[in-house]
Amino acid sequence: MNVVETVDVTYQYPDGTKALNEINFTAPEGKIIALLGPNGAGKSTLFLHFNGILKPTTGCVKIEGNPVNYERKGLKKLRQRIGIVFQNPDDQLFAPTVAEDVAFGPLNLDLPKEEVESRVEEALKRVGMEGFENKPPHHLSGGQKKRVAIAGILAMQPKIMVLDEPTSGLDPRGASQIMKLLYKLNREGITIIISTHDVDLVPLYAYQVYIISEGNIIKEGSPQNVFADVETIRKANLRLPRIAHLMEILQKKDNLPFDKPYPLTIGEARQKLLKEFGD
Ligand SMILES: Nc1ncnc2c1ncn2[C@@H]1O[C@H](COP(=O)(O)OP(=O)(O)OP(=O)(O)O)[C@@H](O)[C@H]1O
Ligand SMILES: [Mg+2]
Repeated sequence: MNVVETVDVTYQYPDGTKALNEINFTAPEGKIIALLGPNGAGKSTLFLHFNGILKPTTGCVKIEGNPVNYERKGLKKLRQRIGIVFQNPDDQLFAPTVAEDVAFGPLNLDLPKEEVESRVEEALKRVGMEGFENKPPHHLSGGQKKRVAIAGILAMQPKIMVLDEPTSGLDPRGASQIMKLLYKLNREGITIIISTHDVDLVPLYAYQVYIISEGNIIKEGSPQNVFADVETIRKANLRLPRIAHLMEILQKKDNLPFDKPYPLTIGEARQKLLKEFGD
C-alpha cells in the first residue's frame, strides 16, 4: 500500500507563486523515500501537504489510503499517524525546556504521565540529546535543535515520519547518526520520507528517489535508475554522488574500464575496483 499519495497536486501560494505543478508522489509502506531538488524546487511546500498544513490548490492528498480530512479532529488524528520534522527547527521548538518540548505531542495524546516521561527519555536518548532536558531550546546549537525536533516527532511514535532536510546543519558524524537512526526506525516498520541535497547519503538508504525541479517531478525510480540519468541530475542543479563522479572521470578522461551504471556508494566502488584490479 502507498501510505502517502498525492494525486495531481498543484499549489499556489497566496502571493501567486506557483510552487507545485501536478505532483504525483507516492510512498510505499515501510520504505525510505528521498525527495531531491535544488533550492526553491518545492520540497518543503510538498511536505507541508502531507500533514494538512497546506491544502492543495487543486488535486488531492491521501494518507494511508484516505483523502486528508482538513477539519480539526481529522488533522489531530492525521498528525498522530504522520509526523513532520520541519526544515528549520525554530519553526518547531517553542516550549521553555527541551523536555517540555519533546513532551508536548505525547501530552496532547492524553497519555499517562509515566508513559510521557519514558517516551521523552527514550526519544532524547535516541537522538543523542540526553542531559539537555532542562535547557531552553533557543540556547541550543543548530544541530542540537534539529535533534530535539526529531525527538519531538519520535516521541509521538508515528507510523510515517517526514523529515525536511534532516541532515542539514549536522556535522558528518551527526548526519550519519541521524541517517542510521532513520534506517533503524524504518526497519522497525516506520515509513520514512526525507528531503535532502545530500546525494552521497541517498544511495545508501533510499528505496526510491524523486527529483523535483521548479515544482515538477522530473525523475523517479531506484537510486541506480535516477543517478544513471546524469543529464537530468545536472539540469536540476544536483550532482552525482562523489564516488560516482570519480568513476565517471576515470572512465571519460582516463579511459579506465568503468562503464555506467557508475557505483553510487563506497561499497559498490570497492567491489568494482577489486574486480578490475584485485588479484
Ligand atoms: N510562504 C510563501 N509565500 C510565497 N511563496 C513561497 C512561500 N514559501 C515558499 N514559497 C516559494 O515557493 C517555491 C518553493 O519553495 P520551497 O520552500 O517549497 O522550496 P524547497 O525545495 O524547500 O527549497 P530549499 O531547498 O531552499 O528548502 C519557491 O519559489 C519559494 O520562493
Ligand atoms: Mg525547503
